[in-house]
Amino acid sequence: MKKETIILGIESSCDETAAAVVKGGTEILSNVVASQIESHKRFGGVVPEIASRHHVEQITIVIDEALKEANITLDEVDGIAVTEGPGLVGALLIGVNAAKTLAFSHQKPLIPVHHIAGHIYANRFETEMKFPLLALVVSGGHTELVYMKAHNDFEIIGETRDDAAGEAYDKVARTLGLPYPGGVQIDHLAREGEDTFHFPRAMMDDGSYDFSFSGLKSAFINLLHNMRQKNLEPSPADLAASFQASVVDVLVTKTIAAAKEYQVKQLLLAGGVAANQGLRERMIQECELEIPDVELIIPPLSLCGDNAAMIAASGTVAYLEGKFGDLALNAKPGLLFEEV
Ligand code: KG4
Ligand code: ZN
Repeated sequence: MKKETIILGIESSCDETAAAVVKGGTEILSNVVASQIESHKRFGGVVPEIASRHHVEQITIVIDEALKEANITLDEVDGIAVTEGPGLVGALLIGVNAAKTLAFSHQKPLIPVHHIAGHIYANRFETEMKFPLLALVVSGGHTELVYMKAHNDFEIIGETRDDAAGEAYDKVARTLGLPYPGGVQIDHLAREGEDTFHFPRAMMDDGSYDFSFSGLKSAFINLLHNMRQKNLEPSPADLAASFQASVVDVLVTKTIAAAKEYQVKQLLLAGGVAANQGLRERMIQECELEIPDVELIIPPLSLCGDNAAMIAASGTVAYLEGKFGDLALNAKPGLLFEEV
């Protein structure tokens, strides 16, 4: 019997230092994530210089831990997958250099991975991917509808024209005085409130698959400031619920329309905002109603945010296709999907 591919994944594009060992592209043997959230909290967002320093301190510890937990040595690993971009350049460099060093010293193939491809491949731990499929990628830096006809074949059919969904969540959370990262806080608050403010649903019925969240963010901030100037304090729970209703409405409506037009077999959620309870619930409801024949896949909460298991999963496909990098591999902070 053919031995299953074992890939070590490394991720350091933003504020998590992560390493994981994945077998056959679908089985997690270990998945270690060292989060830096506490260090960035007091600044209200990720400070790139601090992120880089943390990655330097953590990277070898996290890799050792991932190998130990998987009960494996580097010699038993078939390849080393690493996020080459997009992300913070100083942060990416730490992972890329660690991967290159290990690949060189242990004579292993080096596999560059696009961070967003990784987020999409987190779904492969749930079930096997069936093509054609559509992935809604919603994270701190990205909001994209990605159409895939086959493995490693990504076509962006729609994307945000300004802020990413997660970015808008974090910004409005900040104006409410909630700690970074605010997305999850707004999500919790929204459960206790109602959509009383009816914020705009930007571009919802324009026929495109693009998004825009900066107008919504401004509407939220302006409303809050105007009310405060009148010495009124709107209910944070209603504000959160109204904001979330607008974001979720647009995301779900456009995604379902695209799934219908592209006649996909599966619909995948991916990225940090895929952890949002409001989005998960609405998407399940609407899919049952509107596209009952399409299989909806949602990763577990632990695999929505940044992790290295998703990088190893995506890296396994690239490994089997022979898509290797060499020791000239560099961090690519603005890496586009088209370059994969
Ligand atoms: O994918 P991710 O971990 O990092 C990036 O690649 O950007 O996404 C992080 C983003 C942050 O903006 C965070 O606030 C948001 O995901 N997020 C959420 C929730 N959990 C994380 N946004 C809304 N609701 C949540 N439950
Ligand atoms: Zn991410």
